[in-house]
Amino acid sequence: MGLLLTDETFKQLRDFIYERSGIFIPDNKKYFLENRLGRRVQERNLKGYEDYFYILKYGADKNELVRLFDLITTNETFFFREPQQFDVFGGELLRRVMDENTKSKRHDIKIWSAACSTGEEPYTMAMIMLEKPGVNAFRKEIYASDISESVLNSAKAGVYGSYSVRNMPDVYIKKYFTNTNQQYLISPAVKSMVRFMKVNLMDERDARTIKGVDIIFCRNVLIYFDDKAKQKAVSLLYDALSPNGYLFVGTSESLHNVTRAFKPVVINKVIVYQKV
Ligand SMILES: C[S@@+](CC[C@H](N)C(=O)[O-])C[C@H]1O[C@@H](n2cnc3c(N)ncnc32)[C@H](O)[C@@H]1O
Repeated sequence: MGLLLTDETFKQLRDFIYERSGIFIPDNKKYFLENRLGRRVQERNLKGYEDYFYILKYGADKNELVRLFDLITTNETFFFREPQQFDVFGGELLRRVMDENTKSKRHDIKIWSAACSTGEEPYTMAMIMLEKPGVNAFRKEIYASDISESVLNSAKAGVYGSYSVRNMPDVYIKKYFTNTNQQYLISPAVKSMVRFMKVNLMDERDARTIKGVDIIFCRNVLIYFDDKAKQKAVSLLYDALSPNGYLFVGTSESLHNVTRAFKPVVINKVIVYQKV
C-alpha cells in the first residue's frame, strides 16, 4: 500500500521546504511531494511522511537535508540554452565589461552562474570567453553554484550525454569535448576555468562569499520561488554585482514586480538587468 501524505504533513513539509530553499509548492501540488519524496521515505524504512518531517526538522544528521534539496529541485539544463542570451553575453556585454574594467584598471572579469545545475551554463560561458578576442588579457573567474550537491558533483565530473549537447554548435563539440560512446567529456581547459560551490540563494552567508561580479546568470530558478523569495534572492544577487554589473534571468522570467533596483537594458531584443 502506498504511503499516505496527510494535508497537515504536506503543509508542514511544504513550509519547511519553502523556509529553507525559497521553493514554493502550492496547495494543489501535493502529488509533487509524493512523487519526489515517497521513495526516500521507504528507502529509510520510515513509517510515514511524519517521521521523515521529524528527521528533517529535528534530526542531528544534516545529510537528510542535503538529500531533500537533491530530491525537490528540478535540474533541467543544456549547453547554449536560450542562445540569444549567450550571443549578447559573448558580444556586446563582454565588450562593455572589458572596456569598463580597463578604464577602472581592473585586470579581471568575474562571472557567476547562480543556479548552475549540472554545469552546462557555466561551461558554455567559459567556452564563449575562450573564443572571445581580448578576453585573454584578463584573469577570468567563473563561479558556478547550486543548492543541490548531487548536481554540483555531476558538474565537476563534466561528463554529458547527447541530450545536453544537442544545441551546441559542432565547432564547440570538436574543440572542447572528447566524445566516446555517446558520452561527451569536457576539456580540462574549460573545466579549470569554473569554480563550483554550494550556494543557497536564500542564505545570506552563502551568497556573500561571492562579490564584485560583472555578470550574473540566474536563469530558470526564480520560477520556483514566490515573490518574497524572489525578492530576497535578487537582492543578494544585487549585492554581489559590481557597480553597473548585469543580471540575466531566464527568457520566460521577469524582474517586473520583484525589484526596481535594476534598469532593464535591451540589447538585440534581449533584456538584461543592469545594477543602478
Ligand atoms: C532548472 S535548473 C536551471 C539551470 C540553468 N540555470 C539553466 O537555466 O539551464 C534550476 C536550478 O536551480 C537550483 N535551485 C533551486 N533552488 C535553489 C536555491 N534556493 N539556491 C540555489 N539554487 C537553487 C536547482 O537545484 C536547479 O539546479
